[in-house]
Amino acid sequence: MTTIRKVIIPAAGLGTRLYPITKAQPKEMLPLGRKPAIQIVAEEAVANGLDQILIITGQHKRAIEDHFDIGLNGHSSATNHNFFPNILSNGDVSFFFVRQSRPRGLGDAVAEALPFVGDEPFAVALGDAVITEGGCPAGVLQRMGELFGDRRPAAVVAVRQVPDDAVSSYGVVEPSNGVGEAFSISDIIEKPQPSEAPSNFAVTARYIFSPQIFSYIARTPKDDSGEVQLTDAMRLMLQDGHDIWAVTLASGEIRYDVGNFYEYAKAFIVMALADPEEGTALSQYVKEIVNGRHPAKAANGEEDWE
Ligand code: UTP
Repeated sequence: MTTIRKVIIPAAGLGTRLYPITKAQPKEMLPLGRKPAIQIVAEEAVANGLDQILIITGQHKRAIEDHFDIGLNGHSSATNHNFFPNILSNGDVSFFFVRQSRPRGLGDAVAEALPFVGDEPFAVALGDAVITEGGCPAGVLQRMGELFGDRRPAAVVAVRQVPDDAVSSYGVVEPSNGVGEAFSISDIIEKPQPSEAPSNFAVTARYIFSPQIFSYIARTPKDDSGEVQLTDAMRLMLQDGHDIWAVTLASGEIRYDVGNFYEYAKAFIVMALADPEEGTALSQYVKEIVNGRHPAKAANGEEDWE
């Protein structure tokens, strides 16, 4: 079985949907509870056996590189609240950085990884998308790697079912022959209208590729906004007769897209409420707010909020 050790984390996008928060700071550094989102993504990769991490950065993204330094004080990203710096300080995880000089789309960002990847298969984990299972790193990348090793397709994508009226926000796959925990696909359509969607299984922020993907990215035309989309490159692969498989998120695995405010806020709340030290007190605080009592006023003996 092929052991995949390299993972690309693209983090060079502009994050315009979160303006003004992300005008001068990376969305990937937004906190989810006590950790920045990209640290949680890196932890998930490491938990799934990926220990060589290439982060694609760009303008206004320098904070990401600083974050993964050990730092002069010896503990920059190390706190009692994560396992990741322990692995880092053991020297078992290596970080590399490359810049995408202009954000020209996810396909273009992944193309920057060619010198790092060489002729090995590799994983891609979007830096603004967290997939957790009960607050722990999800195992979907491991399952994708196993499928890649067993079947040797050109690519494997993670997918999850989304409501029918939400398909136009995602890349959507066409199953070749039924669906299940893993299934082969015959097409991928970027942001289809619900009436034209081939299924409601949406591509979900995790991929495994054979190095063939680079030649397909190179020949993928830009879309209407001038970006090179990874799903379009995968579509060309399928049209050339390559095999691509989908692996569905397990029922407990939840993906949060930190790039839009609603999802970001949900992810922050979930992580903060799961905090081992402050989670219980915070849950109580949130309950009081939801029940219409303003905790600060109640503490001062003032009237209820409503
Ligand atoms: P998105 O499409 O969600 O990011 O990319 P965006 O372009 O920053 O979003 P908006 O529309 O402006 O709000 C998903 C992931 O791919 C990276 C992003 O940083 C994010 O982690 N990405 C996207 C790149 O690295 N380069 C790109 O050109 C585009």
